[in-house]
Amino acid sequence: MDFAQLPHPAPVPGESRAQAIADPGFGSVFTDHMVTIDYHADHSGDLGGWHDARIGPREALSLDPACAVLHYAQEIFEGLKAYRHPDGSFALFRPYENARRLNQSAERLAMPTLPEDLFVEACRQLVLKDRDWFPDIEGGSLYLRPFMFASEAFLGVRPAREYKFIVIASPVGNYFKSGVPAVSIWVSQDYVRAAPGGTGAAKTGGNYAASLVPQAEAIAKGHDQVVFLDAVERRWIEELGGMNLFFAFADGSVITPPLGGTILPGITRDSLIALLRDEGLTVREERYAIDQWRADAESGRLVETLACGTAAVVTPVGKVAGPDGGFTIGSGGPGQLAGKLRDRLVGIQKGTQPDPHGWVVRL
Ligand code: PLP
Ligand code: COI
Repeated sequence: MDFAQLPHPAPVPGESRAQAIADPGFGSVFTDHMVTIDYHADHSGDLGGWHDARIGPREALSLDPACAVLHYAQEIFEGLKAYRHPDGSFALFRPYENARRLNQSAERLAMPTLPEDLFVEACRQLVLKDRDWFPDIEGGSLYLRPFMFASEAFLGVRPAREYKFIVIASPVGNYFKSGVPAVSIWVSQDYVRAAPGGTGAAKTGGNYAASLVPQAEAIAKGHDQVVFLDAVERRWIEELGGMNLFFAFADGSVITPPLGGTILPGITRDSLIALLRDEGLTVREERYAIDQWRADAESGRLVETLACGTAAVVTPVGKVAGPDGGFTIGSGGPGQLAGKLRDRLVGIQKGTQPDPHGWVVRL
């Protein structure tokens, strides 16, 4: 599919752009352009399926108040980063995995799938168009947010017949404010993120809406993030609001919660499993209970806990607390494995280390 190139009447002036990307934080600065592709379920004629791919000014959307997404939340999204390599070129990290996960989310939300190549091409076009927005700072990248929503105006409860797929880009620095050596986590007792048979494995807005109150509770209690337990026994550790977890033991083995439909199948999670196995370490995808976590931390059998995701990369967890009190992991600061994995992963992403798995897609 060809992408129409729409002119931008008023891109942000260079000086304002430079100021905006000098210290962008996470998710509040946006580039000049966006990609849009429309979908119409009527397969007759030119409007059938995905059509009208275009890249143009990033601008406000005009939606009918009866637009299906505003009522029944048919919305899914992805998050991936573009990196600048030492030769000045740009690269994406495992973008076909994001394309596949978007399609898995689409199937769960009764939405149309998008050809994987079209997803990656949309990302490529946007990165190259807005390359001047790349923040050349420590930990800097261009965070891409592809998303799809039901745009049909219709109040009946059924899958919509019209959708929009859009990609926007945000120059970002570190997700956690710098100077935080290890994050502190609050165990949610009153709330769960996802139940068996629900939408926990899909990257859909509703899962995040449901996590906001427990996340606010974590912040109010003085912690950085909330950790969710399983919905049935309220015992098995699942994930954070936007990150997967790994537990590293003194014997060199590592556990990460299994993908049972209630947690997001993180691409960072999958990558870390491979990198750990490359190092000859044993990684088990196995349930791990909250009481065991405490017991193992207190006995010293557990040496590190890591949170991981596109936004957070690899972040050590130093402290855990819940209504019954708290415990510290290792020294409470960053551990060796977290540092090593982070350096290895970021090295591959930025093209400064070998990429034996062929994860990097040069643009
Ligand atoms: N879990 C949740 C709930 C997330 O939102 C994310 C972030 O996308 C992750 C885990 C990590 O996934 P990934 O490594 O693909 O970014
Ligand atoms: C990501 O890591 O891409 C996410 O979507 C998580 C969110 C907390 C920003």
